[in-house]
Amino acid sequence: MYYLFARVSALLWLLLDWLGLYNPPKIPGILSIPGYPIVGNLLQVLSNPAEVYMKWSDKHEASLFQVQLGAQRMVVVNKYQDVYNLWVKHSFATASRPVLYTFHDIVSATQGFTVGSTPFCPSYVLKKKTLASNLNKKAVSELSGVFDKEVNYTIRNLILDNRELLGPPSCNIYRNFRNESCDIDLYRYFQLFALRSSVYITYGLHLDCYRRDGPFCQDIIDIEAQIMRYRSTTSNLADYIIPLRYLPGVSKYPEYIRGRRDFYMEDLMDSMKRRYAREEHPIKTNLVAKIASKNCLLTDLELKSICLTMVSAGLDNTPLTMNYLMGQLSHPHGEKQQERAFNELMRISGNRLISAWEAAATEQNCDYITALVYEALRSFSVLPLGLPRVTTKDITYKDVTIPAGTTLVMNAYAANHDENVFENPYQFNPNRWLDTNGNLLHNLNKFHLTFGLGTRMCSGNHLAMAEMYTLTCRMILMFKIKAPTGPLLMVLDPFRNNRNSGGTSFEPKPFKVRLEPRVWSGSDTLYYRLMRQ
Ligand code: HEM
Ligand SMILES: *[C@@H]1O[C@H](CO)[C@@H](O)[C@H](O)[C@H]1NC(C)=O
Ligand SMILES: *[C@@H]1O[C@H](CO)[C@@H](O)[C@H](O)[C@H]1NC(C)=O
Repeated sequence: MYYLFARVSALLWLLLDWLGLYNPPKIPGILSIPGYPIVGNLLQVLSNPAEVYMKWSDKHEASLFQVQLGAQRMVVVNKYQDVYNLWVKHSFATASRPVLYTFHDIVSATQGFTVGSTPFCPSYVLKKKTLASNLNKKAVSELSGVFDKEVNYTIRNLILDNRELLGPPSCNIYRNFRNESCDIDLYRYFQLFALRSSVYITYGLHLDCYRRDGPFCQDIIDIEAQIMRYRSTTSNLADYIIPLRYLPGVSKYPEYIRGRRDFYMEDLMDSMKRRYAREEHPIKTNLVAKIASKNCLLTDLELKSICLTMVSAGLDNTPLTMNYLMGQLSHPHGEKQQERAFNELMRISGNRLISAWEAAATEQNCDYITALVYEALRSFSVLPLGLPRVTTKDITYKDVTIPAGTTLVMNAYAANHDENVFENPYQFNPNRWLDTNGNLLHNLNKFHLTFGLGTRMCSGNHLAMAEMYTLTCRMILMFKIKAPTGPLLMVLDPFRNNRNSGGTSFEPKPFKVRLEPRVWSGSDTLYYRLMRQ
């Protein structure tokens, strides 16, 4: 029955396509990349689309071009200056998001869309405003206690989990007999760090991710990673080839995933409510409580959507970028960069290790560390195609008109590697963010595009920066990050290292580093203090 329906609709569609009725119309004046009937360019961009687009852009010497992915047409923008002009100077005309079939209609049916995937509408504006006021620079600086505690917790568990790191740095004897069993994959530690931080900020709950709540935390991480895949422009054929939606079983798996998500989202909310009911004078500094006390304009579904955004938004981007930075530092060029970072951190804290450790959470005053994080964001570009936009008005740009309702794709990876803006773009060089005195440059039209730009720029950028800053400082203060003894050194090119080349974000193949505790005056004291907590 289903099969018959699928066949008939496929045939009908072929016919419509042949008659030229179904193909999305070409936008006049913009280069159109040749493709195939019906599917358009879909088959050409199934693997590492950002890289394919970048190559097309070079080959045709065109920054803007259009592609057809099945029933959808989109404009891809590759050069920095064009991205900047369209996303900043036309920020209101580019303020919406496309609605994808699998992601929006099936996966998001119960908890609502995240803020980032809601099309432009009054409800979006309200949610974004609420979130932005709780995640702006000042609000994030008030969360420094959270980062302090969470980074301590992460590094303490990292040491406890890896036997060769146990013991104060000065007892370094048997550390000389390392082999590859001592190499460490840091990714899971960073994921749990991001998860615990957001859950605490949102609900005021501490998850015991390394012990009691281990399976619960892993569940959230696994399910959210799968949901992220449903957002990708190319991994959901049913988004583009409409008859596929009628095949039996196509929506089964997304529905199952949705059920798993409902379970933990409700569990988190219930745990928070139970805690409040139990405690006599609960401290209500978490996001949900703050919103509830101030703002009654939000509906229940909108509040759910904000919670979902908080739990899911930074869950892979922040840890992936952190892990990439550690991978970069583990290469030979990273040794000098770590030494410089360590020396700068010590210099601004009067050469006292404990002060440097504490300052890492309360201030972001070491420009070299900020530059390292910026460079990791730029060089890796974790979301290589950013998140797509939809135009809400016609845009006239360089004598072409991009009509309202067009999907616009920022090739963030390509623009972050545009030679006109970033000299030697493939070199990992934090100095590009600093002037000759080592102070941060404030060149806003040369900023990386990894958080996007304009009205729908990432709302979590200050939060993500603060988390990565503190974690980077403390990793460098505590350890020397070295190449693994075994073969699992990080592959530098993110495209070659991509395990899921059809995904939304880069999903690197697992790699490892070797950590060597730093022996420095005060390092034993720091060790004992940290492990005693
Ligand atoms: C390294 C970490 C992160 C990266 C690279 C990143 C990147 C991005 C990008 C590229 C966008 C789309 C921007 C655009 O269309 O111009 C976005 C949107 C968003 N991000 Fe992030 N993000 C990160 C962490 C976070 C965190 C920790 C949160 C915490 C809540 C967050 C919340 C959001 C929200 C709410 C949006 C939607 C904004 C809108 O559509 O108006 N992000 N992010
Ligand atoms: C984190 O560790 C440092 C050094 O051991 C300590 O001074 C600080 O109080 C700790 N922070 C928290 C929140 O436990
Ligand atoms: C690595 O060292 C550990 C302890 O020093 C030892 O138990 C293990 O067998 C060694 N593994 C290899 C592959 O040599």
